[in-house]
Amino acid sequence: MELRINSFEEYQNKYRQSVEQPEAFWDEVAQNFSWQQPYDKVLDWNFDEPNIKWFVNGKLNITENALDRHLEKRGNKLALIWEPNDPKERFVRLTYRELYEKVNEFANALKAQGVKKGDRVIIYMPMIPELTIAVLACARIGAVHSVVFAGFSANAIADRIQDAQATMVITADGLNRGPKQVPLKRVVDEALEHCDTIEKVIVYNCLNWAPEMKAGRDIWWHDAIQGMEKVCPAEPMDSEDMLFILYTSGSTGKPKGVVHTCGGYMVYTAYSFQNVFQYRESDVYWCTADVGWITGHSYIVYGPLLSGATTLMFEGVPTYPDAGRFWQVCDKHGVNIFYTAPTAIRALMAAGDDHVLSYSLNSLRVLGSVGEPINEEAWKWYHLHVGKSKCPIVDTWWQTETGGIMLSGLGDLSPMRPAHAGLPLPGIQPVLLDQEGKTIEENEVEGYLCVKFPWPSMLRTTYGDHERCRVAYFSHYKGHYFTGDGAKRDENGLYRIIGRVDDVINVSGHRFGTAEIEQAINANAMVVESAVVGYPHDIKGQAIYAYVICQELPSDPDMMRAQIIETVTEQIGKIAKPEKIQFVSGLPKTRSGKIMRRILRKVAEGESDKLGDTSTLLDPTVVDEIVNGAL
Ligand code: WT7
Repeated sequence: MELRINSFEEYQNKYRQSVEQPEAFWDEVAQNFSWQQPYDKVLDWNFDEPNIKWFVNGKLNITENALDRHLEKRGNKLALIWEPNDPKERFVRLTYRELYEKVNEFANALKAQGVKKGDRVIIYMPMIPELTIAVLACARIGAVHSVVFAGFSANAIADRIQDAQATMVITADGLNRGPKQVPLKRVVDEALEHCDTIEKVIVYNCLNWAPEMKAGRDIWWHDAIQGMEKVCPAEPMDSEDMLFILYTSGSTGKPKGVVHTCGGYMVYTAYSFQNVFQYRESDVYWCTADVGWITGHSYIVYGPLLSGATTLMFEGVPTYPDAGRFWQVCDKHGVNIFYTAPTAIRALMAAGDDHVLSYSLNSLRVLGSVGEPINEEAWKWYHLHVGKSKCPIVDTWWQTETGGIMLSGLGDLSPMRPAHAGLPLPGIQPVLLDQEGKTIEENEVEGYLCVKFPWPSMLRTTYGDHERCRVAYFSHYKGHYFTGDGAKRDENGLYRIIGRVDDVINVSGHRFGTAEIEQAINANAMVVESAVVGYPHDIKGQAIYAYVICQELPSDPDMMRAQIIETVTEQIGKIAKPEKIQFVSGLPKTRSGKIMRRILRKVAEGESDKLGDTSTLLDPTVVDEIVNGAL
């Protein structure tokens, strides 16, 4: 399957074609996949409802495309390299044939446990090969996977189980993360106290912890696959059948279940993977994300495997056992394409150059960045010390909702400018809108980033609440998908993402809604009200600053802070913990009761001298108190 564009000129031609004749363009791309039944129309759409259908009435199974179809030519090629948390432990390599057999075997196990097409399965797993196997096994039988990042709390899991009305959880006893071990089964057990839809829990034995197993509900992975055949027919799926739900934060308190469907997601993840990274058949490709996020779904699992690539999966963290681990793994496995997040680059940069300088990094050819804007300093360090000034950096802008990379260079083909994501991929039609919703045609401008035409891997709905999908993404600007980001476009048409313009905070590339964190903080019995904002942070990009009103001003603020952090950890997970907590007696509100976050943001950013107009506030005196007490 050859989807790769090979020159900048070819990119320009393809781009033009994709805009002028989108259906013909995608029809040609889609011909590279195996369809059990051909589609009879490429696209049906409107952005008003929205109602988006790609490859209408086509039948396929994404795992047939990611596995079966490679067996003949690539049966003995490595599909997956797994590098453990502990560098002294043995790594695992699975060929396409081996991965095929494991997926089929586990797919049969799922069936034997009663999972049927359309059932929702929650996957809460360590970054081990079985996570990928579980994801693909669900897809094999048409079950809808919903992976929950293994750093979320019991509460967060319970919310997702209930929202998805899931019937199964796949988990492990626990996981390794750097020097720590984290229980998973215990957290699942706690979550299940609040859920009544789950019938079965499959537990992978990762740490030999012998967790409690509830009779009739819990079953070990190794028992579940006993006697299962290594061949399982691939369920025929409609192009628009659900492939997965992935929960992500929005501007309200409740995470949204972003729904992706089979056909379009398959076509776009493979197409974007091969083009953005300029993938070659012999490449070893490594994306350092967790499969629990969209990056892992699209560019550890589906995009690479659909392309017949060798994808590396890493269990650990960048700084264990030391800050050279990423580079050691690159040299050890001869990684050619390396895809990571700015927050990791900044953390490793802060650890000093010695670590990176002790490795050759000779094999690297293309570097990637994702998750948040990459600042120029980090970009330069990445380019010089990791890429040795010879590797292009693709700064890939996209979202959980977009399913795949939207704006990015294509390997070394495209013009590259630090901190700029660059040009749209073929088939992607971004626009910048002004305050009034008018399209800005010129270059060297700034506006709200929207997309005016559908692309195959876009979200179709938010699970169980289509209206929410419409309101969140399609109601701001008629006829446009609204990204929630602000962006600039330079004189050459390259896009630079400025950041979110809504109430979403991006901490180390992870998304949180301010409302979601406030709700979590307010769950603490001592808290009356809170307001959180993001502020710039050297490593995390943004960090969380919380202004909290307690029943009375705490006598021991540090103890109260610790308690609030504990509440947030319980409600969402450690990853959402506020960096700074300031106790206040009031919040700046307008006369209609709306919190003026602009002011709180300025204070958090250390720019209290630039608060602007505060005269419309209900009680302007609270501002002085907040400014004086700023952390
Ligand atoms: C938000 C989406 C899909 C990637 C993982 C995060 C920000 C993402 C970039 C980039 C600047 C970026 C945006 C976007 N973002 N990539 N290359 N440059 N900002 O997925 O959790 O859905 O978050 O991440 O603000 O809206 P996500």
